[in-house]
Amino acid sequence: MIEVKNLCFSYENKEILKDISLTIKEGDFLAVIGHNGSGKTTLSKHLNGLLIPSKGDVAVDGMNTKKGDFSIRKNVGMVFQNPEDQLVYSAVEEDVAFGLENFGVPQSEMKVRVQRILKVLGIFHLAHSNVNELSYGQKQLVALAGVLVLEPKYLVLDEPTTNLDPKNKKNILSTVKKLHKKGLTIILITNVLEDIRLATNVAVLSQGKLLWQGEGNHVPEKILRRANLYG
Ligand SMILES: Nc1ncnc2c1ncn2[C@@H]1O[C@H](COP(=O)(O)OP(=O)(O)O)[C@@H](O)[C@H]1O
Ligand SMILES: [Mg+2]
Repeated sequence: MIEVKNLCFSYENKEILKDISLTIKEGDFLAVIGHNGSGKTTLSKHLNGLLIPSKGDVAVDGMNTKKGDFSIRKNVGMVFQNPEDQLVYSAVEEDVAFGLENFGVPQSEMKVRVQRILKVLGIFHLAHSNVNELSYGQKQLVALAGVLVLEPKYLVLDEPTTNLDPKNKKNILSTVKKLHKKGLTIILITNVLEDIRLATNVAVLSQGKLLWQGEGNHVPEKILRRANLYG
């Protein structure tokens, strides 16, 4: 379980997140939807301790992110908005292995795990390709592979469909759906209403505040208008 309690966050003296409380249970598929600049990325970086609340708390399986425990980074996998921010090596295979290398996983096991995940994501044929020569959609899958190979319990995806063409969009969403079915807890950050249809829970952010949260994937029209999610 990830528990966000009265989270406030400021950059210098600008308040970005205002008193956010949210619980993410194991097996949930939470969609966090909000307009540009509403604080989605800032919130998502709190879920694995990349950012620490100015006030309030975030706890992952009972462990407060303020303690800076490394297991939190391992349990909460994070796919950033721009896949290029998390690709480090030029060969796909090496790139996906990067995190495992950091965790000191033996070479032979590493190879098996990397190959398995590339197959799961349908990009095994790209194992020896140069990351820099891939399409944006392919880069996104490589970035996702690098996170999944660490076998996280929670997966945070920050606007994974932004900048993708319809075909790749469909592909990434069906992949996320499969991962959820396999038991992964999903936190999908988006500003596109149609992306929330797979969700079991929705949280609506607006101007750094949690405007609404509820079960299922239906958000009342009134809320969508207030959150500026129409037009
Ligand atoms: N490093 C930073 N320093 C100062 N302000 C920032 C920084 N990152 C984001 N912000 C501000 O925080 C607000 C929320 O940003 P962000 O979390 O990226 O929103 P979203 O992901 O919903 O578009 C914006 O007003 C943005 O300008
Ligand atoms: Mg963002």
